[in-house]
Amino acid sequence: MTDSFDQHPPRLSEDEKQRLYRDGMVIVRHAIPPSMTQAALEVINANPENKGFTNNSHTSTIDLYTESILPELIDEVMGPHTRPITGFVALTPPGVSDAVVGNHFDEKKVPRPATHVDGGWAGLAPVKRSEIEAAGLDLHTWGSDGDPQSMGPAGGAPLWQDPHRTVAIGSFTAFVGVCLNDQMQPGKGQFAFRRGAHEAVEAFFNMQRREGGPIGGGGPGWPRLVPVGEDSAMAGIMPKAMEATYPDTRFEHEDWPWPELTPALMEEGDAFITLHALPHTATPNLSSDSRINVYYRVRRTREENPHEQNRKIGWGVSDHADRALNGDFLDYPDHYNPYQTSVDKLCDHWSEWDGMADIVEKERSKHRS
Ligand SMILES: [Fe+2]
Repeated sequence: MTDSFDQHPPRLSEDEKQRLYRDGMVIVRHAIPPSMTQAALEVINANPENKGFTNNSHTSTIDLYTESILPELIDEVMGPHTRPITGFVALTPPGVSDAVVGNHFDEKKVPRPATHVDGGWAGLAPVKRSEIEAAGLDLHTWGSDGDPQSMGPAGGAPLWQDPHRTVAIGSFTAFVGVCLNDQMQPGKGQFAFRRGAHEAVEAFFNMQRREGGPIGGGGPGWPRLVPVGEDSAMAGIMPKAMEATYPDTRFEHEDWPWPELTPALMEEGDAFITLHALPHTATPNLSSDSRINVYYRVRRTREENPHEQNRKIGWGVSDHADRALNGDFLDYPDHYNPYQTSVDKLCDHWSEWDGMADIVEKERSKHRS
């Protein structure tokens, strides 16, 4: 980082928008000045609790978003949105470099990173496979008659978004990350993604809706649980039927053992924007120092939603913004169905990106005729 910080303007260029359209992701170079990244690093490094992935509402980590160009830039490309009141610090410590020998990556030592789409119930099932079978239930639909109030095993996303059990995946519009240290060399624990797979994910949601739902895990083509280990089962793994439709975009590099994933190569102060639908993952940090990012989940304002300013939503971190962060159901007026609105957006994600409308129209018209 040099003294002359070449600040990115508060809007994306046409080239950057084209990249966002094509890849589902764009890096905004030099979005955040060093004075702000350093202030956040000071707080993060002084707080031992910040080792891992933790919510953090300290001013210096929220300022990275709210006091930078990001609100204006995202207002322009996406649209009006409630500013984050919390972000989450994503620190991936080093310590797995011995999993790489030459150009071979030992998956017995460190599992191969698998991408996911945010908002689904994830983790180990609280019951054994043998118990599920003994009860005459099956892994695909397990939990489908479950309590709509229940939250995931790690206290994460709810099992259902709605009391009527029609949507099992939470959503938002954009996932935004701010990079706080040098991540230009592949293998630094980068945020990584399946480049361009956002359209395949949208198509999958459309298929689920056509088939009558529910949308998400437990719905058509998407087993809620998959077998793991001797007698366990796991939720949150993307369905093979969806993954099979991802485009084959590869990132070949001698220090990067997972070519199907594209790493976000960033410097301190860079930011990225992805669509909710873009499958992504953290990756093992093969370097000798930590990888530090701060993340925010933002959703385009829904004019009829009475909870846009409700702090119970946990704006900035929540992946299930139609319910309170703690899982409570919220009251909605009769004329507004938040769950249906979310499904409509999952099935037409560009409809939430005002500043992308021209590009989307132009690209789509190429395929009509
Ligand atoms: Fe995620």
